[in-house]
Amino acid sequence: MNATTLSNAVTNDSTVKANTESLLSPRFYKTNYDALDRINVDPVREEWDEMMEAFERDENRDHFRQEVDFENDVKEMSDSLYKEFLDFLISSITAEYSGCVLYQEIRDRSNNPDIKQLMAYMTRDEARHAGFLNKSLNNFGVAVDLGFLKRAKKYKYFKPKYIYYATYLSEKIGYARYITIFRHLERNPDKRFHPIFKWFESWCNDEYRHGEAFALIMKSNPHLLSGLNKLWVRFFLLAVYATMYVRDHTRPELYEALGMDPTEFDLRVFDITSEISKQIFPLTLDVDNPKFKKGLDRLSKINVEIAKTKKQKGMMPFMRRMGLSVLASKEFVKLYFIPVVKNELPDRVTVAPSW
Ligand SMILES: [Fe+2]
Ligand SMILES: [Fe+2]
Repeated sequence: MNATTLSNAVTNDSTVKANTESLLSPRFYKTNYDALDRINVDPVREEWDEMMEAFERDENRDHFRQEVDFENDVKEMSDSLYKEFLDFLISSITAEYSGCVLYQEIRDRSNNPDIKQLMAYMTRDEARHAGFLNKSLNNFGVAVDLGFLKRAKKYKYFKPKYIYYATYLSEKIGYARYITIFRHLERNPDKRFHPIFKWFESWCNDEYRHGEAFALIMKSNPHLLSGLNKLWVRFFLLAVYATMYVRDHTRPELYEALGMDPTEFDLRVFDITSEISKQIFPLTLDVDNPKFKKGLDRLSKINVEIAKTKKQKGMMPFMRRMGLSVLASKEFVKLYFIPVVKNELPDRVTVAPSW
């Protein structure tokens, strides 16, 4: 299917809206905004100010203003690849926009000048990421109504500390994913079937910096990284890794088109993310333990079976789905109890991205 035919495969506005909840797995969050006012970044002031200067310089400013050559740079796609790629774009725009809405909300409600300034920069970045994805979607004749998403999507309440763990990880794993794809396509330019991948390098540097901000916030609140909170760090690491692994294994066509193996790709992303997260987390998951990969593979298979039952109607598929969900929870718990690797925190938190 070429770009023109794709444009003809117009998904009208209301269809996209209707599909929103099932297609868009990334969630929208709200939190306790008063608690964010109590953050004091003085213990990391020097690093904080350096980071703020980098946000202010904004070396990626012009990057997202460049024109995309949709006409000549989008390669032919099979229907199944198109479907997976579209799903990838839509779930990416939701994740970007979800970050944008959360940061904007904190910016507007916060009375803490450091947090307000940080959130203004991050809102700016996520808005341009979402806008850029929207351009790519528009080229396919698909319109995601972001205003509608903001109003209609269900918001999940997360305690501030959960926001720090989850957002830190999603920013860093986002960096690891984008840079791994970008480097792979540098070596295999013939596999770059869409121009959006050319933007990934500068894009992921934005995400990397967002992660640095949350690392500094956690460092200035050391109780978030000790005692029982270590169990939460462990939980979020596993939840983020497992979600990515399971989701990537539902997109075989996309990875085949890129010339990548989703398992190898995910293991590489785990390695990079674990290496980065040593800047702030007192532990990493033992991703090299063979039990870890085996557990994720089982979880992935269960997910495929669950998806099949969702397409069937009646009591039997429903009962089967319940049983499979229990199995998935058991696998998750087994993965959780694989011993972790302890990590000694460095004095300086921020690290330059070097992957
Ligand atoms: Fe982003
Ligand atoms: Fe981000």
